[in-house]
Amino acid sequence: MTDQTITSISRETRVVRPSAEFKAQANLGSEASYKRLYAESVNTPEKFWGRQAREHLTWRRPFKKVLKWKLPHAKWFESGRLNVAENCLDRHLTSGRANKAAIIFEGEPGDVRTLTYRQLHGEVCRMANALAGLGLAKGDRAAIYMPMVPEAAIAMLACARLGVVHTVIFGGFSSEAIKDRVNDCKARVIITADGGWRRGKIIELKSSVDRAVTATPSVEHVVVLKRTGQEVAMAEGRDLWWHDLVAARSDSHKAQAFGSEHPLFILYTSGSTGKPKGVLHTSAGYLLGATITMKYVFDLKEDDVFFCTADVGWVTGHSYVVYGPLSSGATVFMYEGAPNHPEPDRLWELIDRHHATILYTAPTAIRTFMRWGDAYVNRHRLDSLRLLGTVGEPINPEAWMWYYTVVGKKRCPIVDTWWQTETGAIMVTPLPGITPLKPGSCTRPFFGVVPRVLDEAGNDVPRGSGGRLFLAKPWPSMLRTLWGDDERFRMQYWSELPGYYFAGDGARFDEDGYLWVVGRIDDVLNVSGHRIGTAEVESAIVSHPSVAEAAVVGRLDDLKGQALVCFVTLKNGVAATAELKETIREHVAREIGSLARPDDVRFAAGLPKTRSGKIMRRILKEIAAGGAVKGDTTTLEDFNVVAALQAEE
Ligand code: PRX
Repeated sequence: MTDQTITSISRETRVVRPSAEFKAQANLGSEASYKRLYAESVNTPEKFWGRQAREHLTWRRPFKKVLKWKLPHAKWFESGRLNVAENCLDRHLTSGRANKAAIIFEGEPGDVRTLTYRQLHGEVCRMANALAGLGLAKGDRAAIYMPMVPEAAIAMLACARLGVVHTVIFGGFSSEAIKDRVNDCKARVIITADGGWRRGKIIELKSSVDRAVTATPSVEHVVVLKRTGQEVAMAEGRDLWWHDLVAARSDSHKAQAFGSEHPLFILYTSGSTGKPKGVLHTSAGYLLGATITMKYVFDLKEDDVFFCTADVGWVTGHSYVVYGPLSSGATVFMYEGAPNHPEPDRLWELIDRHHATILYTAPTAIRTFMRWGDAYVNRHRLDSLRLLGTVGEPINPEAWMWYYTVVGKKRCPIVDTWWQTETGAIMVTPLPGITPLKPGSCTRPFFGVVPRVLDEAGNDVPRGSGGRLFLAKPWPSMLRTLWGDDERFRMQYWSELPGYYFAGDGARFDEDGYLWVVGRIDDVLNVSGHRIGTAEVESAIVSHPSVAEAAVVGRLDDLKGQALVCFVTLKNGVAATAELKETIREHVAREIGSLARPDDVRFAAGLPKTRSGKIMRRILKEIAAGGAVKGDTTTLEDFNVVAALQAEE
């Protein structure tokens, strides 16, 4: 598993108490109600979740049994039937929200569009009719590779409406990554755009798809949204313009009801091997998790404007740009581009212009804003904001304090939410107005969640000490399996300690029972809040013809959380030049996407290995950090290798 010991060095002691004003209006307004509901949710989970599912979701056929749990497979609300898109759209048309803004969008060039629930419903129906016209039906897969524009949400919801399983591929991924994902799930259609805007430039999406589809035999059609307007190649018969496809389609569509456990989406995420894992989420349980966390964690109110900065290519974009807010009937604000275009105050300008009330973003973004300087924030009023959130990686207390003081003006609680692609929805989090906050801690479990910090033997570690983070109970929005690889699902998440879900994170409880997540303890790095498997980067590097071997480790980075450091040995006769380092960095960006471009490539004559041939990553991490090699090196095969690597620095 890991050769890293889990030490927790944070000594943060500040406590920020909720204000009386926030508490007075909070959806859950007292510690006593949190305690009562939490106790119910873990002591009688079927009663608790059954009630929540009836209250928060609209069913076509009610479920009988709440949970069938045969570890590691859960079936929630199995006999019930519903349609996820209907829950996100149709039900709001009859509850007084038809003319309420569902999505307010601003493109990077400044174009603004508002779609009411009625309009969004019409667009989704049109697209659902169009996809059905292409022959797509329940259980088929469709890939979505789009910029952050309303059509990304429309495409997802149109798939959901038809029971078509979508896999959204982040627009920063390369054509190689598209190819792997599309082939893994055998998507019949790819929905994309000509491009998207980023820092005033066009990010070409269609051309990446073109390079991928030469090797994706399952793909019958590519649907292309015209966004950036440049010339793109359209393959006759295969490629179809979005606007042509929907032109003659009706804006009404009679949705079919699907079983609660019908697959909703596959989302690929990095694991500790070279091949990304296709995390599978199903319908009712996932939607319930996303919906109920909107109500309690984000304290959602009818007139909120919810701004989550995540791209729909990540799970945060699925749960808190699309499914959670829309199922809750909220107004979501969506922004296409970079936060520093045309100037580093774009985000704050957007918040003022669109009166965003809740901002949900990542620590890496917060640290970047901090570095750009307070002046950019202070140019704007930000008085519409009432709640702040963070997700994706541990937030350092200084960034937390900055977010609280400079952005939130000490008026807005911060919810530091711990969860994962696999958990589908927020798992450990403060409840705003109730939970006293400690900068850097994600605090306490959400309803139904039982986190445990355990040692190698499966014992709870004492409070204050670090261990591995597990979850002791199934929850409705949990992943159901890994697409096409149930064995890996079992091995990855359920085999570490029998009966527990293994999160892959190191954590500790403090003396007050608050949870502090330290970060990944498997071979997964968290670079700018994006999960990147070291093995994935290694396999990309060794696919370069000059490379013999590669080992990738993380190094702490002030801005990105972790930076990618790659140790590379070259094939005989290849010269170790600065140019080749650059070529390797570009090669990785091309193979995976620019988010995985190595920060540092170091050539080495050899890599430190055990006598059985296993690369000793602990040593490489120490070298990457620039420190002395400490700890046990008795199993090291060749001491000279370490000396040579240190000399290389
Ligand atoms: O290491 C944890 C970190 O992000 C991982 C999950 O990454 P991903 O599946 O990409 O989902 C990110 C968005 C939900 C976790 O295993 N992580 C996420 N949130 C936090 C966090 N680490 C510390 N504090 C958090 N609030």
